[in-house]
Amino acid sequence: MTVTRSIVLGCGSYLPERIVTNAELASRIDTSDEWIVQRTGIRQRHIAAEGENTSHLGLKAAQAALANAGVDAQSIDLIILATSTPDNTFPATSVDIQRGLGINHGVAFDLQAVCSGFVFAMATADNFLRSGSHKRALVIGAETFSRILDWEDRTTCVLFGDGAGAVVLEAQQQPGATSDRGILTSHLRSDGRHKAKLYVDGGVSSTQTVGHLRMEGKEVFKHAVGMITDVIYDAFKATGITADDIDWLVPHQANKRIIDASAQKLRIAPQKVVLTVDKHGNTSAASIPLALCDAVADGRIKKGNLILFEAMGGGFTWGSVLLRW
Ligand code: ACO
Repeated sequence: MTVTRSIVLGCGSYLPERIVTNAELASRIDTSDEWIVQRTGIRQRHIAAEGENTSHLGLKAAQAALANAGVDAQSIDLIILATSTPDNTFPATSVDIQRGLGINHGVAFDLQAVCSGFVFAMATADNFLRSGSHKRALVIGAETFSRILDWEDRTTCVLFGDGAGAVVLEAQQQPGATSDRGILTSHLRSDGRHKAKLYVDGGVSSTQTVGHLRMEGKEVFKHAVGMITDVIYDAFKATGITADDIDWLVPHQANKRIIDASAQKLRIAPQKVVLTVDKHGNTSAASIPLALCDAVADGRIKKGNLILFEAMGGGFTWGSVLLRW
C-alpha cells in the first residue's frame, strides 16, 4: 500500500547585500575577529537595509525556491513562514509574501519557534500534505534579527544575522519504505522552563516595545547538544535508520562548536555536515534552508540522499526532520 510523502521539489535562499565582518564589529565594540571565530566559527553576517523587512527577504527566497523547483506560484496552496521577526504584529508576514507572489487562494500563516522555526514549519507542512488537505506548500524561514539585537551587547550582537530560505514541498505517493523520497519522520519538542535563558525582553502584550534579545550563552550551550541529539535519536528510533546511513546533516547554523559537538556525539563524520555559519552567522529560522540551498547549489546534495535537519532555540524548542532528497 502506498503512502503520501512530502517531497522537496526545490529550494531557494536570499541574503541581504550588506555584509558586516567581524573586523567591522571590532571597530565598534570591544570584540575581535579571533574571539568570534574561535568561540562560534562566524566570520561575517548579512544585515538587511533600512526598509528591507522580513517579508522582502522571505519573498525573494520563495521566488528562488519556486524557480528552482520549476513550478508556478499559482500551484501553491499552503504557505508557512517561520519567523520571530515579523514585519508587523499583525497581519501575518506570510500573507504579505502570499500577496507578493500574486497568490490569493489557499492559506498562508506564520509559525514562531525561534531558531527551531524551520523544523517546526517543515513538520507542520508535512502533516497538512499527508492529511490530503493541501497539495503543494512553500515552507519559508525568514528573519531580520538585526532589529532585535542590542548592538552594545557584545555577548549577543556578534552571533546573529539576517536572511531567508525556502523549500517547495509536494504531496506524492511513495511505496511506504525508508527508501521513499520525502519527509520520513519529524520530532518536535519544547520546554518553557528554559525561557529566561534565551528571550526578548519586550513584546506587544508585556511592554508594548519590540525589545532586545537576551541570552545566557553558557546555559544555552550546555543544553543544546543533548537536546539536539535526543530528537535525532528519536528520528533513528522511529525509522530504524542509523547515523551511518545519513548522507548530509544540515543543522541549524547557530555556532560551529555546537554543530561539531552534536555531530561528534552522533558519530556523523565532519565531511557530512553542511556548515555555512561562517558566512551568515545565526539567522534563526532561516539558517537551515540557507545551508541546504548552498549544498544543493554546489551539487553536494543529490537526489536520493538521506538528509537530517536539526535545530534548537528559544523556548526552549528543539526538533529534527529526516528526509530523502
Ligand atoms: N568578544 C570578546 N569577548 C567576549 C565577547 C565578544 N563578543 N562576548 C563575551 N566575551 C567575553 C566575556 O565577557 C568573558 O569575559 P570574562 O572572562 O572577562 O568575564 C569571556 O569572553 C568568556 O565569556 P563566556 O560567556 O564564558 O564565553 P563562552 O566561551 O561561553 O562563549 C558563547 C560565549 C559563544 C555565546 C557561547 O556560550 C555559546 O556559543 N553559547 C551558545 C549560544 C548560541 O549559540 N545561541 C544562539 C541561539 S540558541 C541556538 O540557536 C542554539
